[in-house]
Amino acid sequence: MRVVSSKPVLLLLWIQSVYGWMHSKCNIYDNPENIEDMPDSDCLQGYSKGLTASCQYFTDIEEDLHGLPQNINTLCISMTTDKNGIMSLDFFSQFHDLEYLYINGCFSQILPTGNSQGLPNLHYMELSGQYAGCCDCHIGPHTFRDVVKLSKLIISDFRLSAMAPDVFNGIPHLLTVSIGNSCVKDLSEILCRLMYVKSLTNLVVEAQEIQTLNQSNCPILNTNESMTPVFNNLMRCSLKFGKITHIEEGALDCFKNLELFESYLNKELLLQLPLSGIKQIHLLRNLGSEHIDFKSICNLVFLLSIKRIDFNTNYPISLSMYHVDLCVGLESIVLTRDYTFYPSISQIKWNFISTLKNVAYLSVYDRTENSLDLCSFQKQPITWLNKLVLYLNINIFFSNQFSCLVNLLDLKYKSKLSNIEDFAFLGLRLLEYLDLSNNNITHIHANTFYGLYSLTWLDLRENPLIHNTESFTHLTSLREVFLGKLNSPLREPVIKLNLTLIFGDILSQLTHLYITSSMRPMYLIIGSNIESKQNMSLILKGQTVSFEDCERPFFKSVIHLDVDAEEFLCGSEFMGKYFKSVETFVYRSKLSAKSYDMTTINQLIQLQKLTLYSVDLIQQPSADIIFHNLTKLEVLKLLDCKIYSMEGSLTKDLKSLKRLHLRIKNIYNVLYSFPESLSGLKYLLFNELHLFCSCDNAWLIAWAKRNRQVEVILISIRYIIWDNLTCLSDNGIDTPNFVKYTEANCTTEIDFILFTVTGLGVLFFMLVVFLHNLSGHYLLPLYHITLGWLSEAMRSNTRGRYDYDTFVSYSGKDELWVVEELLPNLEQRGPPFLNLCLHSRDFQLGKDIVENITDSLYRSRHTLCLVSRHYLHSNWCSLELKLATARLQVEQRDILLLVFLEKIPPRWLSAHHRLARLVKTRTYLDWPQDPHQHQAFWDRLWEKLKPPTDV
Ligand SMILES: *[C@@H]1O[C@H](CO)[C@@H](O)[C@H](O)[C@H]1NC(C)=O
Ligand SMILES: *[C@@H]1O[C@H](CO)[C@@H](O)[C@H](O)[C@H]1NC(C)=O
Ligand SMILES: *[C@@H]1O[C@H](CO)[C@@H](O)[C@H](O)[C@H]1NC(C)=O
Ligand SMILES: *[C@@H]1O[C@H](CO)[C@@H](O)[C@H](O)[C@H]1NC(C)=O
Ligand SMILES: *[C@@H]1O[C@H](CO)[C@@H](O)[C@H](O)[C@H]1NC(C)=O
Repeated sequence: MRVVSSKPVLLLLWIQSVYGWMHSKCNIYDNPENIEDMPDSDCLQGYSKGLTASCQYFTDIEEDLHGLPQNINTLCISMTTDKNGIMSLDFFSQFHDLEYLYINGCFSQILPTGNSQGLPNLHYMELSGQYAGCCDCHIGPHTFRDVVKLSKLIISDFRLSAMAPDVFNGIPHLLTVSIGNSCVKDLSEILCRLMYVKSLTNLVVEAQEIQTLNQSNCPILNTNESMTPVFNNLMRCSLKFGKITHIEEGALDCFKNLELFESYLNKELLLQLPLSGIKQIHLLRNLGSEHIDFKSICNLVFLLSIKRIDFNTNYPISLSMYHVDLCVGLESIVLTRDYTFYPSISQIKWNFISTLKNVAYLSVYDRTENSLDLCSFQKQPITWLNKLVLYLNINIFFSNQFSCLVNLLDLKYKSKLSNIEDFAFLGLRLLEYLDLSNNNITHIHANTFYGLYSLTWLDLRENPLIHNTESFTHLTSLREVFLGKLNSPLREPVIKLNLTLIFGDILSQLTHLYITSSMRPMYLIIGSNIESKQNMSLILKGQTVSFEDCERPFFKSVIHLDVDAEEFLCGSEFMGKYFKSVETFVYRSKLSAKSYDMTTINQLIQLQKLTLYSVDLIQQPSADIIFHNLTKLEVLKLLDCKIYSMEGSLTKDLKSLKRLHLRIKNIYNVLYSFPESLSGLKYLLFNELHLFCSCDNAWLIAWAKRNRQVEVILISIRYIIWDNLTCLSDNGIDTPNFVKYTEANCTTEIDFILFTVTGLGVLFFMLVVFLHNLSGHYLLPLYHITLGWLSEAMRSNTRGRYDYDTFVSYSGKDELWVVEELLPNLEQRGPPFLNLCLHSRDFQLGKDIVENITDSLYRSRHTLCLVSRHYLHSNWCSLELKLATARLQVEQRDILLLVFLEKIPPRWLSAHHRLARLVKTRTYLDWPQDPHQHQAFWDRLWEKLKPPTDV
């Protein structure tokens, strides 16, 4: 037997749909800063704030925006194709709270907002024609004028010459403009368009195609006066060019100070730049290509008071005291050499540092340089250098190598360093950070780090260390240590470490300990009852990681645990359970690893974040209870794991769970019981979702679409929406469309009952939420519907219980039509004279508005909806429409009448599903444009609305 239609179900569907939005092309996040692994990184990482919609695969921007919540703060849009039609800023004026707007796509034209409201809160706008290269988009004069709060505008990959000369004029508070890849050959194209933006304080220009910098006098403005741009309020300006061949005298007169000047420098430019009108440059970046000697660079440094240089070159660097006299003002030097083309060896005489008494930061990256005589010539200590970063061709550090750098705080060396003599770092009493990662260090001796009293951070990652005893015991300030990849002579089957032996007492003060082996088995011993005073992060990586003394108090201080090992063991048991205080646990195994019981994860009751990578939960003996007791868990990620099904028994204790990310390797089921206990869930991410074709999963689509509390996100390398999700059928071969499958197979009576049961579950849950959130707003309509349904069921006499003939639902913006046309033509025509109920006139003051609507609706025989564009945009109208259709479904009488005040394009209507459905199934009237037909229209309408004659 097939169940046809049933009132409880209608009721239920109505409640679900009143309470939910969902957009097939946009993910909607509330406060996305805290969210990792989301698919829309561009938008989310940059600047998003508040309610954020991140949209992809847009094809028609106006149409695709329909259905988005009106109160979003951040909106990011990616268009699918390069060629899009006209975009109007008006499309966004429905979003009153919009602050950040990012659009990736090329349009033929961008139009300003038409109305006076504009975009009242927008202050950040980024337009990127990314895929198009040079997007030829026409943007007319004053296009952004109505965006009154706009303070930052970023435009890249748009051809500037396609925009009006005064395109940026009239934006009152524009502070920052960044123009990248604007396809211009002449800088004045950019500067002249900005010269009237008096509020401008920050400017970034990146223009690779400009080859000559000429004086600008703005002929492009088509004025008779030949104006030169002036930027009086500009505080920071960065100019990034490619290969400039010539700079005309006075070409950059409009700027006094530059934050950054970047280009491929050559000898001529070094002479021309001081005459360009620039007085000061903070950072000069040379991109390379020509051989330039340091004397001429320093000459420029002197003339333009340059503070920092970032010097890239392909040529050997020759540098000594003799070159750098005029560079004395420099505070930071970065030298980077790519020696692929000219492999001859650089010549750096390190005594140049003693001349540059202001340099606090020095970085030299040159794999041909093989000397580092920093201190042997120095008579005086070098007190000015704080940070030193070196990548050289040197594999040994001698004793006292750095002893003159008495104020060095931070030292980084990455290359082939394999031998560190004892006392190599003597004298670096203030050094806090020492990064020797990515070298070839095998042995650390007792005195290797002697004298580093202030060292808090020691990084020895990616070194083939052979474990050493008592290497770190004297580093009394040490907090964070990174060791790896530990090695050991191959004859030893495992790498065995006694942490007390290596660290001694300082083990108790570490906050961060990272130990990896080069994917060999690792065996760790704590070795004492030492207790850490800190909240500790422990990161371990090996083929397998096992512990000997698992009951040590040390383990209780570990708050963050990150383990990458096929097995993580204490004896033959899972080691996890000994980390009683752990709050964040990331465990990476291998699907092919030998399986062992990990059920004791359910004893880690302090867990707030749990991530399992490549764990085969199908092999687990008690997979269903593995997440029990985790009542504090907020984030759970199962990535590349295997599991049979997600179901309620698994999730029953996860009351605090906010985010669940599933990237399951196999095909699985998601049962309706699964979200029952997840009362705090906000985000559910299905990454490459593969479902079985089973009616057990059929609930998921409707739930995902209708549920407002949980944002369900489908992530895939392909463009997937629910409607084209496929599933795997029983024969293991066919992959039908999941929606079609459920429609065809999942409506038997049993399933229907199951559905109703689930639905009632959801209904109950929603009722609780309603009561809580809306303080009873929706109870009244429910009450009326129930009443209506009961009285209908009892066939009681319903005539004569109406106070009004017709409740008129309309947008306030159509009030004029109502007063001038509707009222005279209906209320004054008769007998009988119709009694209309208008919200503006007949609502009781002081009464709650939802209550008012509901009451009036049920006290009227008919409901008349006046459909217009305004009506579609109004929240109250859509509520009225919802309530009216709900009543229609219950009473099953001809009580609802639609009048279209204007032509609404079908594609607009399709975004309003309810209305679109009504239009298909019910008769409606169009307000005729021709005045001669008005009389006939009123006749028809009156006929429909007049009270039954037998009253
Ligand atoms: C700059 O001036 C030179 C010579 O006056 C001219 O050849 C060149 O085309 C000009 N460049 C631009 C971008 O106007
Ligand atoms: C690392 O050092 C060992 C000797 O300790 C040497 O044989 C090997 O070539 C070095 N590796 C590199 C990349 O320099
Ligand atoms: C680990 O080292 C500590 C300190 O030297 C020592 O007391 C302990 O016996 C060692 N444990 C093992 C199992 O070697
Ligand atoms: C956690 O839950 C499991 C199964 O539900 C139970 O057997 C176990 O005793 C619980 N453990 C703790 C520490 O509460
Ligand atoms: C899913 O549907 C959308 C819209 O109908 C379509 O653009 C997209 O290509 C489809 N994706 C797949 C993988 O079929």
